[in-house]
Amino acid sequence: MARRKYVVGNWKMNGLTAALGEAQAIFAAAGAHPAVDIALCPPFTLIGAMVAAAPGAVVGGQDCHAAASGAFTGSIAAPMLVDAGAALVIVGHSERREGFGESDADVRAKAEAALSAGLSVILCVGEPREVRESGDAVDYVLAQVAGSLPGAFDPARLAIAYEPIWAIGTGLVPTVADVAEMHGAIRAKLGEQAGAEAADAMRILYGGSVNGENAAELLGAGDVDGALVGGASLTAGKFVPIVEAAAGLG
Ligand code: PGA
Repeated sequence: MARRKYVVGNWKMNGLTAALGEAQAIFAAAGAHPAVDIALCPPFTLIGAMVAAAPGAVVGGQDCHAAASGAFTGSIAAPMLVDAGAALVIVGHSERREGFGESDADVRAKAEAALSAGLSVILCVGEPREVRESGDAVDYVLAQVAGSLPGAFDPARLAIAYEPIWAIGTGLVPTVADVAEMHGAIRAKLGEQAGAEAADAMRILYGGSVNGENAAELLGAGDVDGALVGGASLTAGKFVPIVEAAAGLG
């Protein structure tokens, strides 16, 4: 099946109201590439304003709680993201797994909550440097996929993002061969867990130091259906070349 390319910006804890102009510029430029699906995930505080500033744009959250409501001070529930105008949410980013102690079971519960609320999900996996160096990266990541994948899901609404932790924000990227090996292994695992048809329909994004210079090569690797972009998603000047690279791969 032909999977549409998907380029998603993760603004992390960056962005005040003044940054909405960059979002408008990104979505306006992306309009020239209708074959590529584009989304931006700003901080919670900007979701409603970004949806209002860029009507029709696909905007998402960076995390959600597994419960729909309740006494969880400081947390945001999936229905709240929907209420703010979000269409998707990232779950299981390594900065949440590592910084907030989220386990595979936590990530799975969040993904299931998000899907039940009607959101699409980008579920992140990825190995730390020492695991890559010891040669166990594929086994490590496949265990994360097995432990984090929701029990039942619509494959059109669940994407996996492979993000080696050592590549995030460092300027380091894996070789194209390593990316292709990992993405192929993830798709095979998805096939085991969800069936061949679902695995074929699901998009697997690469994330970690993607920029305008390396995007064409990374996105051209086998089983890579797009990119999850951090630093280079904050400005149109850096993000749009990644969208253009994705569009060039048709
Ligand atoms: P980076 O972040 O593009 O800044 O490396 C990617 C991510 O964490 O999603």
